Amino acid sequence: MYNPTIEGEGGEFKDEVFYEPVNIEPRFSDPKSTIDPDKTKNWFWRVLPILMSNKWPLLGGLFLMVFTMILGVSIPALMGMLVDSIEPAIINSDPKVFFQLIILIVFLSVIRLIGGTIGSYQIGKASNQLEADLRSVIYNHFFTLSFSFFDKTQTGQLISRANSDIKTIQMFLMIAPMLMTSLLSFVFAAIYMLSVHVFLALSSMIAIPLVFALSVKLRQLTFPLSWLTQARQADVAVIVDENINGQRIIKSFAQELMQVNLLAKAAKKLQWVQVRSVDVSAFYNPLIENLSVLGSVFVWVYGGWLVIEGELALGSLVAFNMYLMMIQMPFRFLGWMLMLEQRAKASAGRIFEILDEKSELLQDKDQVNIKHMKGHISFKNVSFSYADELILKDLSFDIEANETVAIVGQTGSGKSTIIRLLSRFYDCDEGGIEIDGINIQDLSIKNLHHHIAQVLDEPFLFSVSIKDNIAYGKPDATDEEVIQAAKAAEAHEFIQETSDGYYTVVGERGYTLSGGQRQRLGIARALLVNPSILVLDDATSAIDVNIESKIHESLTRLLNKRTTILIAHRLSTINLADRVIVLDEGKIIASGKHEELLNSVSRYSEILSQQAIKNDNESQDNNETDEQQRKRISDLLNQDSDAFKGGFSE
Ligand SMILES: Nc1ncnc2c1ncn2[C@@H]1O[C@H](COP(=O)(O)OP(=O)(O)O)[C@@H](O)[C@H]1O
Ligand SMILES: [Mg+2]
Repeated sequence: MYNPTIEGEGGEFKDEVFYEPVNIEPRFSDPKSTIDPDKTKNWFWRVLPILMSNKWPLLGGLFLMVFTMILGVSIPALMGMLVDSIEPAIINSDPKVFFQLIILIVFLSVIRLIGGTIGSYQIGKASNQLEADLRSVIYNHFFTLSFSFFDKTQTGQLISRANSDIKTIQMFLMIAPMLMTSLLSFVFAAIYMLSVHVFLALSSMIAIPLVFALSVKLRQLTFPLSWLTQARQADVAVIVDENINGQRIIKSFAQELMQVNLLAKAAKKLQWVQVRSVDVSAFYNPLIENLSVLGSVFVWVYGGWLVIEGELALGSLVAFNMYLMMIQMPFRFLGWMLMLEQRAKASAGRIFEILDEKSELLQDKDQVNIKHMKGHISFKNVSFSYADELILKDLSFDIEANETVAIVGQTGSGKSTIIRLLSRFYDCDEGGIEIDGINIQDLSIKNLHHHIAQVLDEPFLFSVSIKDNIAYGKPDATDEEVIQAAKAAEAHEFIQETSDGYYTVVGERGYTLSGGQRQRLGIARALLVNPSILVLDDATSAIDVNIESKIHESLTRLLNKRTTILIAHRLSTINLADRVIVLDEGKIIASGKHEELLNSVSRYSEILSQQAIKNDNESQDNNETDEQQRKRISDLLNQDSDAFKGGFSE
């Protein structure tokens, strides 16, 4: 159990707000390079800068591979010489040659073994480094993207892309160097074979084009299937993701069976492609393998006859056969590698699609960092639409520094959109937003976000301790600071009642807590960073009115030190504001003191009364009993009688 060290009322928050950058020094260094921005280039050349940012393992590995390949090519020739040295006439007169050859072959084999091991280790290291770097590059990029990108992309697709596509590229880069070096060994082997016996060499290689043609055919058949496999795997991932995240909804509507069926259908589709590709390779692979064996049989028969005729040394025939095996190898796997290449290309294409997605938020180099933000906000002729429909229409208003303003409007009128524009989650289509006279597009995004703290109606909690959730925006906060913020948000008491107090780990997204408790943690989190601009967007909608009024007491104490924007329906919340801005269908129709507006603007009362009715239909804090709810509604109606008058008088 966590024992708080300070007692009584929470202390005072600092008056002055400083910009102290947090989390700008990564604990793990970022990749030194990113992909080549030139979209016309081949995928490999685009990835190369990342690969080359860590070039020594790669180049060292490649060098060792080529080196051991050359050693490997020399061995069959030496074996041939060894066979020839066993001939009685030679071995009797000069046995030294035989032993020298044995020693040389053993020596080369050992070197080859060591070189090959180190070489493939280095290549593996380089390709895994690329995997890690590519992952960092993608995740770093995610955070620069505008929210409109996430609006139109399925998260399951993104996760699946980031994981399986990176893996595909890593695998290709691991396999490719091995196959490339073995293809190179083909050149050496072919030269040897042609130098021994041109006709035997050419005729033994006749099967190779066939092996190659078949493996290409195999690739042509399996490539579309592999592409389809990845797409369908992503479909399955999306459904699984939704099933897990949406399970409360699924269960409450008793749609488990439908979801299971949906998944089964997607799994069936995935199964079909996978079986289809197994089908294709089951036919072609044995064909390709047996063709290679046929080539070998031909060499033994025809070559054996040449040896008997005395046209070819026995040693050469032995070497010849070893070379034939060696040169067929790469061609057998060439089709597979080309397929891997196609896969990697497709994967790279999808990754580039994400990385080429330019951040819609324009970021200049020389951006301003405000150290002390006063918090004067000014919207100048702002228009904005998510898609086609204009949400905000030529909106202009000012919020003075340290002013507390309530934005009131019907659901869907664009209140939250105003906040999203202020935080540059989206950029305005027209007009501009200034803070302290500086256009927010000239501010660095980090600086902007440092000064603005938002509390949304459904605060996202991470599955870490309550303390870490509150200290999310200020990880180095002291225990006292955390407790102080929790007290101001009326969260301290319920936190102490949880099993481990501040160290209780909240379940995924905080679902072990009630809606109102989550909101209180959200408020504490925002208060802790002591922002210049505090935004509460429906932030108390699920909090019991009694608790809310206590939170308001601490808020009134804290609000006058910062600019505060309240988006709320409850009169108790609106009453906290110095001024109310009334938003209707993306336009500001009035602005002024609550009482004045009640008397002069009938639309204002109308909006309020509609919201009050809507509020009563919504369930409040889970802790609220029926008794409390009845009392709350009657309180609300008494309190709101003025508001209703205006609304119903037309
Ligand atoms: N990400 C989005 N993509 C497209 N339309 C959106 C998006 N978010 C909100 N909208 C639409 O914009 C309008 C205003 O939304 P919002 O600002 O959230 O309203 P409010 O907060 O006043 O309830 C609504 O009609 C809503 O459907
Ligand atoms: Mg909203």
